[in-house]
Amino acid sequence: MEEMNQNHHDDLVLFVNGKKVVQRNADPEMTLLTFLRRKLSLTGTKLGCAEGGCGACTVMVSRFNSHHNQIIHHAVNACLAPLCSLHHCAVTTVEGIGSVASKLHPVQERIAKAHGSQCGFCTPGIVMSMYALLKNSPQPSMQDMEEAFQGNLCRCTGYRAILEGYKTFAKQGGCCGGRRKGNGCCMTSAHEDEHVNGDSTHSGQQLFDPSEFMPLDPTQEIIFPPELISLGKQPPRSLRFIGERVLWIQPSSLNELLQLKAVYPAAKLVVGNTEVGIEMKFKNLLYPVILAPAYIQELSSIQYTENGIEFGASVTLTVLGKKLREEVDKLPSYKTEVFQAILEQLRWFAGQQIRNVAAIGGNIMTASPISDLNPLFMAAGCKLTLMSKEGKRVLQMDDKFFSGYRKTALKPEEILLSIEIPYTKKGQYFSAFKQSTRKEDDIATVTCGMNVIFQQGSNIIQDIQLSYGGMAPTTVLTTATCNRLIGRRWGEELMEDACSSLAEEMTLSPSAPGGMVTYRRALTISLFFKFYLTVQQKLAQMHLSVEDVKPNYASAIELFHVDSPTSVQLYQTVPPGQSTDDMVGRPIMHLSALKQATGEAVYCDDIPQYENGLYLALVTSTKAHAYIKSIETDDAMAVPGVVTFVSAKDLPGSNETGPAVYDETVFADKVTCVGHIVGAIVADTQAHAQRAAKAVKISYEELQPVIVTIQDAIANQSFYRPVRMIEKGDLAKGFHESDNILEGEIHIGGQEHFYLETNCTLAVPRGEDGEMELFVSTQSASKTQALVAKALGVPASHIVCRVKRMGGGFGGKESRSAILSTVVAVAAHKVKRPVRCMLDRDEDMLVSGGRHPFFGRYKVGFKKNGKVMALDVTYYSNVGNSMDLSLSIMERALFHMDNCYNIPHIRGTGYMCKTNLPSNTAFRGFGGPQGMMVSESWISDVALCCGIPAEQVREINLYKQGECTPFNQCLEQFTIDRCWEECMNISDFHQRKARVELYNKQHRWTKRGLSIIPTKFGISFTAIFLNQAGALVHIYTDGSVLLTHGGTEMGQGLHTKMIQVASKTLEIPTSKIHISETCTNTVPNTSPTAASASSDLNGMAVYNACQTLLQRLDPYKARNPKGSWEDWVKAAYFDRVNLSANGFYRTPDLGYDFETNSGRPFNYFSYGVAVSEVEIDCLTGSHKNLHTSIVMDVGKSLNPALDIGQVEGAFMQGVGLFTLEELRYSPQGHLYTRGPGMYKIPAFGDIPTELKVSLLRDAPNEKAIFSSKAVGEPPLFLAASVFYAIKDAITAARAESGLSGPFRLDSPATPERIRNACEDKFTKLCPPPEPGTYTPWDVRV
Ligand SMILES: Cc1cc2nc3c(=O)[nH]c(=O)nc-3n(C[C@H](O)[C@H](O)[C@H](O)COP(=O)(O)OP(=O)(O)OC[C@H]3O[C@@H](n4cnc5c(N)ncnc54)[C@H](O)[C@@H]3O)c2cc1C
Ligand code: FES
Ligand code: FES
Repeated sequence: MEEMNQNHHDDLVLFVNGKKVVQRNADPEMTLLTFLRRKLSLTGTKLGCAEGGCGACTVMVSRFNSHHNQIIHHAVNACLAPLCSLHHCAVTTVEGIGSVASKLHPVQERIAKAHGSQCGFCTPGIVMSMYALLKNSPQPSMQDMEEAFQGNLCRCTGYRAILEGYKTFAKQGGCCGGRRKGNGCCMTSAHEDEHVNGDSTHSGQQLFDPSEFMPLDPTQEIIFPPELISLGKQPPRSLRFIGERVLWIQPSSLNELLQLKAVYPAAKLVVGNTEVGIEMKFKNLLYPVILAPAYIQELSSIQYTENGIEFGASVTLTVLGKKLREEVDKLPSYKTEVFQAILEQLRWFAGQQIRNVAAIGGNIMTASPISDLNPLFMAAGCKLTLMSKEGKRVLQMDDKFFSGYRKTALKPEEILLSIEIPYTKKGQYFSAFKQSTRKEDDIATVTCGMNVIFQQGSNIIQDIQLSYGGMAPTTVLTTATCNRLIGRRWGEELMEDACSSLAEEMTLSPSAPGGMVTYRRALTISLFFKFYLTVQQKLAQMHLSVEDVKPNYASAIELFHVDSPTSVQLYQTVPPGQSTDDMVGRPIMHLSALKQATGEAVYCDDIPQYENGLYLALVTSTKAHAYIKSIETDDAMAVPGVVTFVSAKDLPGSNETGPAVYDETVFADKVTCVGHIVGAIVADTQAHAQRAAKAVKISYEELQPVIVTIQDAIANQSFYRPVRMIEKGDLAKGFHESDNILEGEIHIGGQEHFYLETNCTLAVPRGEDGEMELFVSTQSASKTQALVAKALGVPASHIVCRVKRMGGGFGGKESRSAILSTVVAVAAHKVKRPVRCMLDRDEDMLVSGGRHPFFGRYKVGFKKNGKVMALDVTYYSNVGNSMDLSLSIMERALFHMDNCYNIPHIRGTGYMCKTNLPSNTAFRGFGGPQGMMVSESWISDVALCCGIPAEQVREINLYKQGECTPFNQCLEQFTIDRCWEECMNISDFHQRKARVELYNKQHRWTKRGLSIIPTKFGISFTAIFLNQAGALVHIYTDGSVLLTHGGTEMGQGLHTKMIQVASKTLEIPTSKIHISETCTNTVPNTSPTAASASSDLNGMAVYNACQTLLQRLDPYKARNPKGSWEDWVKAAYFDRVNLSANGFYRTPDLGYDFETNSGRPFNYFSYGVAVSEVEIDCLTGSHKNLHTSIVMDVGKSLNPALDIGQVEGAFMQGVGLFTLEELRYSPQGHLYTRGPGMYKIPAFGDIPTELKVSLLRDAPNEKAIFSSKAVGEPPLFLAASVFYAIKDAITAARAESGLSGPFRLDSPATPERIRNACEDKFTKLCPPPEPGTYTPWDVRV
């Protein structure tokens, strides 16, 4: 080994999509994803997070295992897989399995045709997860499928459609996997009152037709390269790959590895790289030597021993799980208590892609305090074999093994060879619990392993080990508590003592990292209580316990389990006589869906790099409020490949910028938030640019105050102007007429957009007249054009902004994207070369802002029957360091302060808090959801106060047709009553409620809750001038039509709808019409694609342009009535008729004045109602979404498939907002939650088990194109039904402790908030720390 030439490089050999690739000088720091995208131009595989948390980069890796003579296929995260780990592997990407141009693969076809691809950015990853699953199991079960998708996120669809498409592969088939009770599949056996995917009067039409799907034909797949099999049979040879900073050695034997470890004691062993990869990328750690033990058989072996099974340290979690499952199925249950617990823990350990590569040894050796396996190994007393070239030693994993935060008892030259996991004996019981914010793929808040051994034939404890993660810098054993319990009988008294003792022993500093201090302490006790009950039940079964578990306690020990989802979609099909060419009203597929599923759809960062193109990385502030004293760039400039540092000095035009008012700078000299853009580095690769950006040193002069929270802003009177107010009626009179008055508060947390595609811009200087062409992922092409022109000091006419499509926007790319585009454009101008930047997820989350957190304070007066008479409500929004669109957002919150309720005397006031956070911005709903959330809070308080069911209070306060809002717009074509009634019916509300009540009587530690919530959403931009749109339609002489309009495509299907509109108007098939892009040089002065109004506005503009063309073609049609479209077009052309027309539309009769409270702010309203039922675990705070029914008025739907997709997607985004997603900031304004690891958006497992969506029938809307209605934003708020169902369940839990009446529940209703609100004897043992006596780790902004 020592003799090996230190400069020797090996060639890396792998196959990609069946083709051999030999890579000279493979860089150990390069990931497979970068290699695929940048070196092989295979851009179908996407980058969503770079940390294994979103699945967008999923590919299949296949390798030949010579020991088992078997080819193994795994879904893998390309963003974490080091290129060097793939020697002699075959990689299959989405491009390798099918294409639109050649032949689609069924997994690509089905997701597209089932409407499971909206923006499409997640689609290749989901396709590849499904593909890898089918490769291993051609007829998977529903459970296999649910597991396969644990590591994939989608922000658009709400998942239902994806699952439905893929359920057609399942063993049981059909949309419910055949699990529907009674009569088989729900798609083939609808109840009489459920007209699945269609309408009773025009039945027979579905959202998609599974009979059209190509069958899965495994013989058509790419074969595993025979060369890799023969290479795999040869004895392994050590490999060396040398990069700029890192040496990668893959030793061929254990002996060689141990020798190397002696030579390089600081070297890292890398197996799955799921920990090391994260450390190098996000913690800026550098490991100059990496030892990859992939070839070492001893580290991958599994052997039976006398006491259990010994697993080599490199055994992956997937293999571990498979082996343990075999043993559990084979051995008597008492012997496999530990194995069963590990299996349960593995169910919630990361996603499949991670489990496929992550090793058991990697988990142990990372020594993370929140490792999910270490508490189990510790409680079970697992034995670890360590080895160095000096020999082996065996240690029991106990509390001495972890010597400190991420430290172990291993000597530097030692490696972990194996771990022995023991069998259990009769009279021994073992459980594992993991509590996390999201059940699937989330790190633990608290995690534990619990082991008890009883004296033979008794319930007297012989030994007990309780081990916790998440409660200290290491995994810990509760030695004091355990010592107190030994020798005692398992019973109520022991349980009470154990809980008190745990409360004393498992303390946390109020400032402990990770926060949630009270919750974590309560969890240690609550989880022990679950263990206590579990063991008691088992003892009772053995007749060793005095008492059995009380029947109403039994659900506390059930394992968390969600049934596979089932769904129903109801919509009105087109009338029988409608022409088959007329596509309006039909559920046609998103026109890019197939390309998205094959990876052929081109997103901004997929555009091939220009030969002289460069990459940009942002340099941002690490202080929330400071002057910049100096910027030191020497170290940065020394990084290889760096071209320049760009700053305010390089601006040819103005540094002032901002979407509504110019209160921002392109580059800051005084920073007002962490993440404020100070400059940028331009380099030859993204890696170099990012490395150099981190090397820029900024010195600051810190300023006071640092205002982070709304409460800080109120205390400092730090507000933007104006303060908005809407007032109607006479408040004093209203309160006087009320029987009761109550006051309350609610805080609604912000939300990160988490579009799967982060912000991206490519700027290409054109070389003359200051012209520049920009390719941008933006909702606002014209705003980008204008702000770039301003910064470059050129007229807007010299700047072209092009948008092909976005991988999601949700408001996040309405204004904030322009800031990045401007920086990139300035850099491109400076270096006179194309420059691109696609932000990494952590950068995007840091700099781009999100939904405004809101705080609502209200005083409400009401009658005994719940009729609200008067409301005085004040809203505070956390705006951040610049105005952005915050005034309009606050105005919309005020316009929605009534939600759907008629309040005779009302006043709403809105304050915009100026804070040292990145500027918050538009997000689907635009302040509306926050406005309405506060109204549902006071409605809920009124109901609790009056002791009347909340649905009754809601119903009695609902508006009626013709009544007027606080801003004096009267409600025409009002459909909320119809939505309400239908939703009550399809959800079976009254019977459901009776079942919930019965359930709650029978269960102490799990409770169910039910809620019905209406919504009314005003449609129009509240800034009047934005309510305009343009379109440009060209007809070419072959009859093909190129359509352009002002809207952008971000997955919502706008282009598809516009083609439907043009097709109906021109009376030609959609196949003749094409949309290429949105571009400022075809349709100028466009409004952002926002406010749900884009189909309305652009649809009318398209209609207008098409009408003009039709009129021009009319004479030719009249002359040749039997002719074809092509004939008329040709005739017109030869007659010298202009076959290009633009169209324009402005919404009529708009104009609201806050001074006089008069004029119409909205063109019309969209309405909807939802019913949700949930179940909460009162001990952990987890909840399950059991049922949701939604009835949405979308007018006469232009495309029911797209509209249902919008309803479901918005609803799930709302579920995230109100129950899951929590941005966490330090008191100094640092954002902790900068990626999917810490910030949890809903996953597949969060969709309601039963989901019914109905588009209201016979509800044409005369105010929009072809009687349709806006749909993008209005359904989001319906997710509040889940929040208030949770609140209902908590109310039932509190009643068990004798608590009644209104209580405050802030949003989101996370497990922490739910658990803390379910006060009981355990929470009493852990009182919260006294506010003001400590500095918390995080603050609620
Ligand atoms: C998206 C995501 C989700 C995750 N979810 C979870 C989760 O739910 N629960 C959880 O507990 N963890 C989780 N993790 C953490 C991580 O996946 C696990 O710790 C994993 O088991 C690490 O294994 P690996 O092979 O990838 O380790 P690597 O990154 O390859 O190595 C990790 C560390 O172990 C050392 N090491 C590895 N093998 C040996 C050996 N034989 N001898 C000495 N040192 C060795 C390495 O040098 C390195 O320091 C998650 C990680 C990601 C990225
Ligand atoms: S990009 Fe790899 S998992 Fe997100
Ligand atoms: S379609 Fe899944 S993220 Fe957009």
